[in-house]
Amino acid sequence: MKESKFPQKLRPRRMRISPALRSMVRETEISAKDFIYPIFVVAGKNVMEEIPSMPNCYRISVDNAVKLAKEIWALGIPAVEIFGLPEYKDEIGSSAWDMQSPVQCAITAIKQAVPEMVIVGDVCLCQYTSHGHCGKLCGHYVDNDATLELLQKVAVSQAKAGADIVAPSDMMDGRVSAIRQALDDDGFINISVMSYAVKYASAYYGPFRDAADSTPSFGDRRAYQMDPANALEAMKEVDLDLDEGADMIIVKPALSYLDIVRRVREHINLPLVTYNVSGEYAMVKAAAQNGWIDEKRIVLETLTSMKRAGADSIITYHAIDAAKWLRESE
Ligand code: PBG
Ligand code: ZN
Repeated sequence: MKESKFPQKLRPRRMRISPALRSMVRETEISAKDFIYPIFVVAGKNVMEEIPSMPNCYRISVDNAVKLAKEIWALGIPAVEIFGLPEYKDEIGSSAWDMQSPVQCAITAIKQAVPEMVIVGDVCLCQYTSHGHCGKLCGHYVDNDATLELLQKVAVSQAKAGADIVAPSDMMDGRVSAIRQALDDDGFINISVMSYAVKYASAYYGPFRDAADSTPSFGDRRAYQMDPANALEAMKEVDLDLDEGADMIIVKPALSYLDIVRRVREHINLPLVTYNVSGEYAMVKAAAQNGWIDEKRIVLETLTSMKRAGADSIITYHAIDAAKWLRESE
């Protein structure tokens, strides 16, 4: 072999010369078991209504949710998170703890049909209140401590229905300990709390609010969700939730907040979840439908980046597609 004109001891490209070698040195792997798939349930039978700003995501009735859960489980995805569109709304969101509501019925039906699957209940009030805010109002202000009592009811009703994990997403102070206490008082000592500890007031939630009919009727959520500019505050929120007994921590949204995912990862020794939210999904879908990007590659790269940043699990609307693509490439 000829001597190189540019002698270099280290040439990182050597480790990239073949697919087998690349796979040998790959640091981050994603798989179906990393995903949690969000489901929107509505009342009725055989309903399957596509969400306009979230192509290939549907509002579905309980019977279809059961079918979907079986399909998801067969793909190797271990968990679903249930969101609901209730049949009635009021000032305090009482349909959120109604055992006849779509969420509670779906939890029970899925638990029965696919008992091994992990069922996560989203605990919040915005889909259930007539004003669309995440708690009980006092004037235009969401009353923190009055809301805690309602969140306790929601969490316990979901546990009664058969949820394995409850995930409070409201951003009230003290909700993890309030929920933990209510669960324990009712004997649900093995039901985990997966806290949306770090949830930013984000424009990336737009399509979800269309899907779940949960846009606030006045104002916004900046008086309870976090300011996107803050990182130290994220660490404070995490510390509080650890102290209150959270079993898992969520950072939400994901893509614009991977620095936060990394910081939280280095700070905690609990499972860390990130939520690849509706706006992130919608942007990818819209560009893909225009033929502007390679959807499969973009999605797998994006999900890999979330795991590389430090997430153990990813709540994602791409879960079904990604699980299929990962299976093809096995
Ligand atoms: C509300 C809630 C939101 C999402 C899930 N539950 C955000 C909000 O409306 O403030 C967003 C999820 C997504 O955008 O995919 N508690
Ligand atoms: Zn809410």
